Amino acid sequence: MNIRTFVMLFGTFCMTCIPAFAQQRNRNNRQRFEYPATPDTNGHHVNAHGGCIFRHGDQWLWYGEARPQWGFTSEGVALYTAPASADMTDPQHAPWQNRGLVLRVVDEEGSPIERGCIIERPKVLWNEKTQLFVMLFHSELKGRGYEAAQTGFATSPKAEGPFTLHHAARPNPNRWPADFAEADIKKAKSYKLADYKEWWTEPWREAIRYGMFLFRDMERGQMSRDMTVFVDDDGTAWHIFSSEDNLTLHAAELTPDYLGYTGRYYRIAPGGQNEAPTIIKRDGTYWLLCSGCTGWDPNEARLFSAKSMAGPWTQHPSPCKGPGARLTYGAQGTWMLQAGDKVFFMADVWNPRSLANSRHLWMPLTFGADGMPVVQSPIQSPMGQE
Ligand code: DGJ
Repeated sequence: MNIRTFVMLFGTFCMTCIPAFAQQRNRNNRQRFEYPATPDTNGHHVNAHGGCIFRHGDQWLWYGEARPQWGFTSEGVALYTAPASADMTDPQHAPWQNRGLVLRVVDEEGSPIERGCIIERPKVLWNEKTQLFVMLFHSELKGRGYEAAQTGFATSPKAEGPFTLHHAARPNPNRWPADFAEADIKKAKSYKLADYKEWWTEPWREAIRYGMFLFRDMERGQMSRDMTVFVDDDGTAWHIFSSEDNLTLHAAELTPDYLGYTGRYYRIAPGGQNEAPTIIKRDGTYWLLCSGCTGWDPNEARLFSAKSMAGPWTQHPSPCKGPGARLTYGAQGTWMLQAGDKVFFMADVWNPRSLANSRHLWMPLTFGADGMPVVQSPIQSPMGQE
């Protein structure tokens, strides 16, 4: 075979076979984690993602992102309810009734919830003192991608809304973490951004760990993206979020009305790149189950524990077991659903082509004889799964 023929044949091979292989791989990847829809009482897939579920009065309340069929923006926050008497041994099959949007994007220019904005991971708390439902959410401004990285606060006297936007801002401007001593502050300030133009190098990682980005964001407020909320036994409410360009989690104490920050906050796993925090407390230990940062793609879950929000936090192997565990079964956590003595690790199987159709995957979280949390694989057949 002469060189011309070889080049021609090789070119034809590349043009036909490689795209075919790639297509096959994508198809296989997608098929690997295909799950059924979660129908509401009208038979429509529940469009409430990155959400939270809790019981209030005679209802279970499920708040989540209402996403469009196509595109990455938001429609607002949706509510689905089920009667408190519903069988919650299998909460995904409870009779979830669509109660519509409780927070809607608006057509007002410049509003943090202007149509075209991004509203992610809404979490709602009932505030006994103010008798208000308070919603916190990851708020991104229209046309600015994920740059704003702020927290939205909205309230409603009724679970069914409508929620009114209170404000949106970055947490804790001009505040250092509660456990930072003068020496820590001095060290964080000593790292100069200009000296670290190249990311992911070992010196850069060290600068991140010691708070270079913390200092960078001191005036503007700390970045706040993926998030959850947690009310402790003593009534203290915490907002836990990915900060510092998704490199470090912050646990920030909320004011008693849940509408702001007291200024007390702690960093968790500095430089660890954790997203999608979910938390549960058991026998005095906080268990924080997160994901890594791979956009809409699944990755291996990360587990941390501590005896206090202030830490120290210890990392453990992922609690996910069985087929698909290495990629958290294709899902990314959003909430720990507590129903009686049962806990479910609620997760989203993102479909970035149609976020509204992202699937819901909820798995029982149990504790083993060694006291460690365990999430069992929801995948029956190990075929094609890792
Ligand atoms: C991963 C986050 O967990 C999601 O909530 C969303 O922000 C995507 N990244 C966007 O890429």
